[in-house]
Amino acid sequence: MVLEIKNLTKKYNRHKTGLEDYSITLENGILGLLGPNGAGKSTLMKIISTISKPTQGTLFLDGVDIVKSPGHIRKILGYLPQDFGVYPNLNAYEFLSYIAAMKGVGGKGLNQRIELLLEGVNLMADAKRPIGTYSGGMKQRIGIAQALLNDPKVLIFDEPTVGLDPEERVRFRQLISDLADNCIIILSSHIVSDIETIADEVAVMQGGKLITKGSQPDIIKYAENKVFEVLIAPASLPAFKSKYRVIDTARQIDQVRVRYISDLNAIAPSSAPVKVGLEDAYLFLTQNNP
Ligand SMILES: Nc1ncnc2c1ncn2[C@@H]1O[C@H](COP(=O)(O)OP(=O)(O)OP(=O)(O)O)[C@@H](O)[C@H]1O
Ligand SMILES: [Mg+2]
Repeated sequence: MVLEIKNLTKKYNRHKTGLEDYSITLENGILGLLGPNGAGKSTLMKIISTISKPTQGTLFLDGVDIVKSPGHIRKILGYLPQDFGVYPNLNAYEFLSYIAAMKGVGGKGLNQRIELLLEGVNLMADAKRPIGTYSGGMKQRIGIAQALLNDPKVLIFDEPTVGLDPEERVRFRQLISDLADNCIIILSSHIVSDIETIADEVAVMQGGKLITKGSQPDIIKYAENKVFEVLIAPASLPAFKSKYRVIDTARQIDQVRVRYISDLNAIAPSSAPVKVGLEDAYLFLTQNNP
């Protein structure tokens, strides 16, 4: 599948722009959307899910205009909204059967599919009690399961790992990486390490704009030779912060190890270059584009 998004703009009102002239082309595989609060991640996901209409721009899925023909994507779409709500009185079976009916998924295999999904998100043991009694992470997992009900070819997860414990994060990763070969999967997160372990490609967004998209090594390259570490006295940290863009600090016995962004010719004395990761590159790219 190919999803071509061109010059997408979403204006919520005269003062609020959710997305601005956003263009991106997606193929099968997992795309991670990284961006600070208000970057436009949910806005983009809602428009692809046809929950929201763009103010301007086009979306074509395998050549079909999905703004004009939303039905074309809806039947092959799985979507977990950021503010996913459940019916608290239904148990997991009832809830998934209800969503299946809404999506027009039925047939003989439905019960089996529901069980398979409940196993996939590790909710079989709790499937018969009301969802209202679930923990936050368990509710999130039922949300993940409902997105997969119709065997989707376009899967959109808005902040899917929120509330998941480390074990369930790993399970989620395995569940979706098995699907990525013949499915466009888009997921957003603030947790760079989650994106790092799952995504084939990363799109960095800020202020409704796409800053860059590429493979993880491509994104990391932006920050190469731009991130350094130095040990300084705790008392000099405020002055250091006013001069450099500090990414992280770690207290040592009587010193602070500071990780910061700088051009090579402007680094602080005794600094050493560090091996950069996706988080460094993300911070470098977003802080560079306020
Ligand atoms: N219904 C709405 N009405 C008005 N403005 C909105 C609406 N929804 C989003 N916005 C604005 O659009 C911009 C993008 O919001 P969006 O929810 O897409 O960001 P996000 O990247 O998903 O943020 P977060 O990480 O907090 O989920 C923000 O400035 C937000 O205030
Ligand atoms: Mg959001």
